[in-house]
Amino acid sequence: MYNFDEIIDRRNTESVKWDLYPGTLPMWVADMDFRVAPQIHDALQRRLDHGVFGYELVPDAYYDAIGRWFSRRHGWNGIGRENIIPTTGVIAAYSAAIKAMTQPGDKVLVQTPCYNAFFPVIGNNHCGLLVNPLHYENGLYSIDWEDFEAKVSQARVFLLCNPHNPAGRVWTREELEHMGEICQRHKVFVVADEIHCELTYPGHDYTPWATLPEHLVRNSVSCNSPTKAFNLAGIQIANVFASDPEVYQKINRALHENECSGVNVFGVTALQAAYNESEDWLDQLRAYLWHNARTVYGFLEDELPGITALPLEGTYLMWLDCRGIMRPGEAIEGFSERFALRLKQYGLVVSTGTLYGSAGEGFERLNIACPRTLLLEGLSRLKKTVQVLQKVYAGAGFCSSREKPYL
Ligand SMILES: Cc1ncc(COP(=O)(O)O)c(C=O)c1O
Repeated sequence: MYNFDEIIDRRNTESVKWDLYPGTLPMWVADMDFRVAPQIHDALQRRLDHGVFGYELVPDAYYDAIGRWFSRRHGWNGIGRENIIPTTGVIAAYSAAIKAMTQPGDKVLVQTPCYNAFFPVIGNNHCGLLVNPLHYENGLYSIDWEDFEAKVSQARVFLLCNPHNPAGRVWTREELEHMGEICQRHKVFVVADEIHCELTYPGHDYTPWATLPEHLVRNSVSCNSPTKAFNLAGIQIANVFASDPEVYQKINRALHENECSGVNVFGVTALQAAYNESEDWLDQLRAYLWHNARTVYGFLEDELPGITALPLEGTYLMWLDCRGIMRPGEAIEGFSERFALRLKQYGLVVSTGTLYGSAGEGFERLNIACPRTLLLEGLSRLKKTVQVLQKVYAGAGFCSSREKPYL
């Protein structure tokens, strides 16, 4: 059994998450507060002990580890050196894919709310943004297919996120095939960001885009990495998968043009130790995270019914619908930001919902990848903040009974 309850002090380690807002409990940026699997730690230690860190070739063993992992775990067969391109990160990967497959002025489609680093990358590649807002009803996200097709018909590239950050959806095979058919009809290239693919919960399996029917896969590329699931974000390693040799060549060239084709020696080592030796650690992590998610549901239901956590099908990023704690008559515009600022005042840092597009207004994103005692402390700060707001509003003449907006 691995110990995910251990609290590791990350303060003063130059951690973005912990050191950017000192004195707060950070539940925002997407990394985890757990130590890596001991197998990864040992492999890195052995590499470190060698003491020489010059330029390295990427060995066959690296590609074999990826091929075996995705075949065994996700039924995605036939990947190897000939269709994998290592790079420094998933953002670098999809940026190169957009660069390779578009001309300046082309449009790239995303589904909002969506991962915030999709927006600048589209602009940096001189493309325009198209948005297919996800349909939100009764606490669930689905795709507005009519709008999707209307937008696809104007797009050059569709940038898919599966599992979806921050909506927490793991798209089903049927949904993915439907997206693929529409993209194929309009000759739109698909870039699938699957960085969160290992982190799925009971009843929701990850379907690699590349396992869809062949005619849907040809005009696509998948971007993946072990960094989210195995907590290696700072090590910076990722892979692009392209089954079509022409697509492979184009993206490989774009990665070289962007000078993102050399990888970190520790990344090469860590990836192999993750995929070859750390599967049981990952399975225990997923069980722990799922327990954390249920802890959040239980807490909100009992203590903060004005806030609803959406069903977490994948990722460790819970998407909180906070509109139930708005003051009667309060303008929705700016609410996420105001509430996130209040939370920070009371020592809890979340990711403001509108970072993910205007569709995130009224929501906040909570990173639950931490030991349970920290999670409970975060939830208690959330409750405290809402109680203070409740008092402020009650003092201002607003009702604060259980039936009414605040609790
Ligand atoms: C959907 C998604 N893609 C990409 C990234 C970043 O990937 P990388 O650090 O490998 O560039 C993140 C990080 O949170 C993410 O959530």
